[in-house]
Amino acid sequence: MTWNPEQYNLFSDHRLRPAFDLLSQVPLNAPTFIYDLGCGTGHITSLLSQHWNEAIVTGVDNSAEMLAKARADHPSLEWKQQDIGSFSPTSKANLIFSNAALQWLDNHEILFPKLLTQLRPGGVLAVQMPNNFNAPSHENLYDLARSPEWYDRLGSLVRPAPVHKIDWYFELLSPLVEKINIWETTYFQVLKGKDAVLEWTRGTALRPFLAALKPEEAAIFESQYAERLLQAYPMRQDGATIYPFSRLFIVVQVAGG
Ligand SMILES: C[S@@+](CC[C@H](N)C(=O)[O-])C[C@H]1O[C@@H](n2cnc3c(N)ncnc32)[C@H](O)[C@@H]1O
Repeated sequence: MTWNPEQYNLFSDHRLRPAFDLLSQVPLNAPTFIYDLGCGTGHITSLLSQHWNEAIVTGVDNSAEMLAKARADHPSLEWKQQDIGSFSPTSKANLIFSNAALQWLDNHEILFPKLLTQLRPGGVLAVQMPNNFNAPSHENLYDLARSPEWYDRLGSLVRPAPVHKIDWYFELLSPLVEKINIWETTYFQVLKGKDAVLEWTRGTALRPFLAALKPEEAAIFESQYAERLLQAYPMRQDGATIYPFSRLFIVVQVAGG
């Protein structure tokens, strides 16, 4: 799947706040090796580097498009094109940070413990993931993709919800770490303009579905989805649309250090 950096960055303000909320809970003073997994266009990677300006900060992503923008905007940082599933740095991490990326990977029961093995003693894994796979924005997308009209082309793209409940992560991670901090926040995002939620999902959840269709079919699918979204998230008279968005946060620290 290809990513579109411009479309993704349309909502950078909304996407930034959870990253700051995550950053505020990282219990480290001076990490040396920091990796930002699924760094995208590198905006948050650069904030990590400003926050800990002595650190060696590397952004990791498997999208050539996103990394090209990251490199162009922040040439002094390190960038690596790699799949997070095979992340295994030569210098182990004091901090692995991942904002809004690990939901794109399955099998978290394998992924999370594997990431912990890439930390130095006392190292921290800090993760934020959208937890809205049961929200109307996503359920309508999946229902439409599985409807008879689209099933043969899109049905197989509907994944089981990749993000588990808080208890599930607690049980998986607490035996492996010294400190664990898990929470969930719903952001009531105020979006502006026509088809605001559609515009949001164009940058993320809708992408794989549109990419699987010919342009003329994609336009029809998108307009059917837009109709459903308008029912689920009506635009207010003042032009605003309120889009509740739940996010799950996990900050764990391994022993030692
Ligand atoms: C929603 S964006 C988040 C970007 C950035 N962390 C932010 O908060 O703005 C998700 C990023 O994860 C990357 N990604 C998704 N699956 C990946 C994988 N398996 N390996 C590496 N990167 C991946 C995508 O290319 C994309 O840049």
